Amino acid sequence: MKKLKIGIVGLGRLGKVHAANIAYKISNAELTAACSIVPAELEYAKAELGVADVYADYKEMLAKADIDAVVIVTTSSEHCWQIEAALDAGKHVFSEKPLGVDVAQCKQAEAAVERHPDRTFMLGFMRRYDASYAYAKKKIDAGEIGTPYLVKATGIDPEAAVQGAIRFAKTSGGIFLDMAIHDIDLMRWFLGSEATEVYAMGATFKHPEFKEAGDDETGVAVYKFENGAMGITHVGRTAPHGYHVETEIVGTEGTIRISAVPEKNLARLYNANGVCTECVQGFPERFADAYLAEMEEFVRCALEGRQPGVSVYDGTKSTLIGYATTEAWKTGKAVKIG
Ligand SMILES: NC(=O)c1ccc[n+]([C@@H]2O[C@H](COP(=O)([O-])OP(=O)(O)OC[C@H]3O[C@@H](n4cnc5c(N)ncnc54)[C@H](O)[C@@H]3O)[C@@H](O)[C@H]2O)c1
Repeated sequence: MKKLKIGIVGLGRLGKVHAANIAYKISNAELTAACSIVPAELEYAKAELGVADVYADYKEMLAKADIDAVVIVTTSSEHCWQIEAALDAGKHVFSEKPLGVDVAQCKQAEAAVERHPDRTFMLGFMRRYDASYAYAKKKIDAGEIGTPYLVKATGIDPEAAVQGAIRFAKTSGGIFLDMAIHDIDLMRWFLGSEATEVYAMGATFKHPEFKEAGDDETGVAVYKFENGAMGITHVGRTAPHGYHVETEIVGTEGTIRISAVPEKNLARLYNANGVCTECVQGFPERFADAYLAEMEEFVRCALEGRQPGVSVYDGTKSTLIGYATTEAWKTGKAVKIG
């Protein structure tokens, strides 16, 4: 069987998830190299992933490693130049979201993708590969809720992980670019239309460190779409019960709700406190299957010479909208998108 040889860059919170999937779960892929600026992560690659070929310098990995493809899971501000360098070195590229933290960077990545049409490029909007979201999209496309006119999205990280979010705040691009970007992508996907205007606000009640980093711990944004549809997203970092990702799509003939209660599993605990449903505690748990499914699709696309459903242009659009949302949050004014 032909195997895609992959080098991963970034072995932090999510990098470890992708790396383990490539190394142990995808039979037509092989993790042959790893790169990180954190020495402990290179030790992790050797000890836990069985990768002997490790690099502290990304360009050195591109030049020397025996790889067909690169998986980029670094800090968001690094994605675009790393995408361009990998494509110019003849590699297929999977990059985590967001594509870039500003539109100029995204355009640079777009140009690189256009220069190399024979290389596969995929962006990590993994929710499109989650079974429930994919099911919702199928139902919408089949007309089962009529015309979708409103998406209401909630995405709140658990309070238990808040210290990591505080450390991440300075380089995340801000709460809207970092968190709402998934909802922005899904709104465009479900509504089949582009956002034209946004109004946003934020607040910090529990952890002043977010404000000190120039961010907020929670935020709400309201979008208007070209076709008249609407979107609302509520993002945050302090859900006491777990990782709360919920999406509702309202149409003229019906509604679809995805994960209204972010259940850990189908078990219910009946005791003196009543009936308890435990919740998922983080993105690696909630979207474990989706991270695997998207990487399997990337590997298939690269081996078969195809492009996946999520394109570089989805990355630019979502960053453009995320950026406009951040501007609306900062200025307190409605911002036109386009
Ligand atoms: N799709 C999702 O649901 C999802 C979830 C979490 C994170 N992400 C995205 O994944 C990316 C990584 O997030 P994380 O939470 O794993 O961050 P992290 O801070 O835990 O890890 C980032 C890693 O990148 C490495 N790195 C940074 N710059 C580098 C460089 N120039 N060369 C080599 N290595 C470099 C760091 O050493 C670290 O290993 C971010 O862009 C984030 O937005 C996506």
